[in-house]
Amino acid sequence: MRILTIGAGYVGALTMAVMAKHNKEHDFVVVDIDHQRINEWNSDTLPIFEPGLDDIARETRNLTFSTDVRGEIGKADIIFISVDTPTKMGGIGAGQACDTSKVEAVARQINKFASGPTIVVEKTTVPVGTNEMLHEILEDTNDKTFTVLSNPEFLSEGTAIADLERPDRVLIGGTGSALGLHSQHTLASLYYKWVPVKRVIQTDIWTSELSKLAANAFLAQRVSSINSLAEVCEHTGARIDELAGAIGTDPRIGPHFLQASLGFGGSCFKKDVLSLVYIAHSKGLFEVANYWEAVIKMNEHQQDRLVRRVINRLFGTVQGKKIAIFGYAFKAHTGDTRESPATRLYNLLAEEGADVRVTDPKAFQNGGSAHFSGLATSGAPKYCLREPGLNVCYFENPLECAVGAHAVIIATEWPEYIQLPWHTIKSSMERPAWIFDGRNLLDATRMRATGFHYASIGNSSEY
Ligand code: NAD
Ligand code: UGA
Repeated sequence: MRILTIGAGYVGALTMAVMAKHNKEHDFVVVDIDHQRINEWNSDTLPIFEPGLDDIARETRNLTFSTDVRGEIGKADIIFISVDTPTKMGGIGAGQACDTSKVEAVARQINKFASGPTIVVEKTTVPVGTNEMLHEILEDTNDKTFTVLSNPEFLSEGTAIADLERPDRVLIGGTGSALGLHSQHTLASLYYKWVPVKRVIQTDIWTSELSKLAANAFLAQRVSSINSLAEVCEHTGARIDELAGAIGTDPRIGPHFLQASLGFGGSCFKKDVLSLVYIAHSKGLFEVANYWEAVIKMNEHQQDRLVRRVINRLFGTVQGKKIAIFGYAFKAHTGDTRESPATRLYNLLAEEGADVRVTDPKAFQNGGSAHFSGLATSGAPKYCLREPGLNVCYFENPLECAVGAHAVIIATEWPEYIQLPWHTIKSSMERPAWIFDGRNLLDATRMRATGFHYASIGNSSEY
């Protein structure tokens, strides 16, 4: 078979790479309208940093990248739709509803250019019921037929290849028609090459669509739940790390996703929870909408209160003070900065007049500098924020980033930050030298012994 994915992003390219590796008898093609992205996929410098990706990309011979969207649609037996589905930015539902216009555009192209029986797979995350739109657009004729399936992706960035190689589950939703069941089997058989049969779950298509939103909503809710308790800890005698350990031993709760932090980021949690909120609102389910909206409010509160804490500790103002933010990626082991908590931090601090410096080992090498532009001069800083009036610059070297700073904020849990020469950093900073550890990454005792004032998330002694 010739298997196509439309959208060469994290999901489209990575899922095809792993599927191609395990299905050598089929040809896999990834297309995108973004020529630069496709050129990068065809070069030695891949557009995405993901541990393990380079090896797979090198090894896989039955995977190609192209910009010929029309031509490839015409040759494909199975088409995965993997385009982005961001939050709608204008009109009805702005700021909440999921913008499915790219999915619709792709469906119209598939309808026009497909040439035979085609299985169309919603790989991208969509609002429940999107399959109905696809069914209406894709029109069966004598020589071509379409089946629509849902096969949402659950990979996490930073561990994407490992997640794809050993998925907890693969979800396939169909409409239950005879052709649909046959197509479900065809799709499942691609996964059976490396995924145990019992991990491939088959449901109806609406449940599959909603399950993806539900999974992300539950995960985001856990982060907001632990962060809400972190604030209670800061006002009482409790410690959030010990609390997480204590409740996480209950198998009904489990130990994962109980890491208190400065809030969740990434391109999906906020977007997908808001999409759920919008769906609930539009069905008149206001209590449901309010319930999930609180997850987002708690997340923003967590970031805002860290900024307030920084200002309070720096004697009520950050005007003209250098603040170093260590970490721009929304989590460690990725270069992705979409909805990164660091963005909200640097915006709020720069609006207060701070001279903000940002450093990150990966974000500026892999497209993370989209909001930043290069400076004419060589040396540090390398890039500064494009937005006029906000003083935010990027420094490659964390030691240079912290020189003259009043505070370092740990915004991403990069393990290399633990090993930094903190003595040297301390002596280059202003007094009192503060560390605000938004990831509870560093050892409090060691940092205090080094001479820092140290505050972390969810510990009353450091509030
Ligand atoms: P992305 O922005 O990295 O990639 C999407 C790609 O689609 C872009 O390269 C864009 O140019 C391309 N595209 C858009 N319109 C197109 C068109 N008409 N024709 C051809 N190409 C087109 O997005 P992503 O992070 O891969 O996410 C894609 C979807 O998968 C989203 O719905 C997201 O919620 C979901 N998802 C993402 C992740 C993740 O970790 N990033 C995980 C699971 C699910
Ligand atoms: C998340 C889900 O984990 C994936 O299953 C899903 O496929 C994906 O969204 C998606 O749909 O895009 P991802 O956003 O890549 O994956 O990363 P996560 O590991 O889930 O982390 C999300 C955010 O929550 C990060 O900012 C992380 O630092 C934060 N987090 C996570 C915490 O603050 N505490 C935790 O205990 C866990």
